[in-house]
Amino acid sequence: MRRLVGETRLHPAELVLPMFVKEGIDEPVALQSMPGVVQHTLHSLEVAAKEAVEAGVGGIMLFGVPTQKDEIGSGATDPDGILNVALRRVRDAVGDSVVIMADLCLDEFTSHGHCGVLDSEGRVDNDATLDRYAEMAVVQAGAGAHVVGLSGMMDGQVAACREALDAAGHTDTVILAYAVKYSSALYGPFREAVESTLEGDRSTYQQDPANAVEALRELRLDVAEGADIVMVKPALPYLDIVSAVAAESEVPVAAYQISGEMAMIEAAAANGWIDRERMIMEALTSIRRAGAQIVLTYYAVEVARRLQD
Ligand code: PBG
Repeated sequence: MRRLVGETRLHPAELVLPMFVKEGIDEPVALQSMPGVVQHTLHSLEVAAKEAVEAGVGGIMLFGVPTQKDEIGSGATDPDGILNVALRRVRDAVGDSVVIMADLCLDEFTSHGHCGVLDSEGRVDNDATLDRYAEMAVVQAGAGAHVVGLSGMMDGQVAACREALDAAGHTDTVILAYAVKYSSALYGPFREAVESTLEGDRSTYQQDPANAVEALRELRLDVAEGADIVMVKPALPYLDIVSAVAAESEVPVAAYQISGEMAMIEAAAANGWIDRERMIMEALTSIRRAGAQIVLTYYAVEVARRLQD
């Protein structure tokens, strides 16, 4: 009866798997704070991408971990940089059988760990960063990304990337805008995953968890600039925001169950304090119920397989 009358259903096609690929390693490296998640080699990334296709997930989102970082994040726009090499490799291996997304942000590539370049006083320079993002979008599209995932929270980033992509002939490349991204304590484990060098925080460009009206303004700006999909992040503590954005958005809405959300489930389950599988399904179902059509989750393949059985 519950199956018959259930209002919300998960489907593998709505799930997107975030994946990390690290330059210069021979074996995958396990992440302490995200049990089961690894930094991939190019080879293990390819294998895991094929497994994701097998499981029927809708998309994969790639993050690169370079060996060298510098002030401007040169590795991000180098066609031979780890993320761009990985995109080419994965696109060759799986073609169009899954949507390939690329994280478009400088933080993994900058020595200071910020999402943009800095001005002479050490502040993030919004407009100088837009030029870097525009170049990055074109390089990622050229490397095979179907979707560029703009996660840096610079004002005007969607318009800058759309214009650059179109000018370079990449008119079919889709922009997924992290329209609503809160400055959250839940990014902690991710920063281990990408070996972040960040000191301080991102509160000058990410949103205050106290604000909801601002989320709708961010949504409208990104849609007006040409966003094809908008995202809210983190997910579980922000379901009111997911719901408000879904009610107003004219484009598909995604939500990202981020690293810290996973770490909380894993840590509690490891202590025997909650039922891991039940909690995973409950959290993902709630994110969908709130109105997200697409969910980014480190559990994508595990859950897709469970749904297939
Ligand atoms: C920025 C970016 C971050 C995440 C995705 N893209 C980190 C940040 O803003 O600090 C976090 C994802 C997660 O925590 O799982 N490139």
